[in-house]
Amino acid sequence: MRRLGVNIDHIATLRNARGEKHPDLLKAAKLITSYGADSITLHLREDRRHIKDSDVAKICKQKKISVNLEMAANDEILKIALKNKPKYVCIVPEKRNEITTEGGLNLIKNKNKIKKIINKLKRNKIRTSLFINPSIKDINLSKTLETECIELHTGKLSNLIKSKKKFLKEFNKIKRCSTLANNLGLEVHAGHGMDYKTTKILSKIKVIKEFNIGHFIIGESIFLGLKKIIKKFRILSKR
Ligand code: PXP
Repeated sequence: MRRLGVNIDHIATLRNARGEKHPDLLKAAKLITSYGADSITLHLREDRRHIKDSDVAKICKQKKISVNLEMAANDEILKIALKNKPKYVCIVPEKRNEITTEGGLNLIKNKNKIKKIINKLKRNKIRTSLFINPSIKDINLSKTLETECIELHTGKLSNLIKSKKKFLKEFNKIKRCSTLANNLGLEVHAGHGMDYKTTKILSKIKVIKEFNIGHFIIGESIFLGLKKIIKKFRILSKR
């Protein structure tokens, strides 16, 4: 069965807005896992804008939670990864001023750095994935770097679908890249900007083994949860 990873960075953003403990990240990670998610993704950014070091430490300690740590190819974050030993690491590009991860890694520019990180993670039995754009060149380069997995950036496809534009060309590109990667022995993951519709469409590519979804799941949970909570407050406030 295809795996689902849930990114909880946006829960951290909400918590940090008040500088308090609610909503608690560890509680969220435990619940999401108990509801059937296969892994919990945390992106420890260099600027710590959402996930904090203490979140990584607390959540990685939980035996029942499979943590997928997203990190830039950065020595300081690598040290934190090796200390906390998440089950998986996904290396992503990172720009200080971006709102979210805008594109895939520049594998040519960062080849040596990424290779070193993959080797260190492997020695520590941490599965590595590279977040890349759907390009044949990057699939072949990923293979030479000996990563176990790749995650294809689906942001462009998601935007085309959401804005009701023609998306078949981008879909076929992702399909071709997924097939090539799978044939080369790389495990294929996909993520970014995915919602119900994008997920339904991408699910047609059978060789994709894992979806990583964040913003939409956390946002949509508001709509699915509001009714219960408003009812609860109506009852409480009558007392
Ligand atoms: N996969 C990777 C590698 C990401 O960097 C992100 C965004 O943090 C996601 C998946 C999830 O994207 P979204 O929040 O748009 O679902």
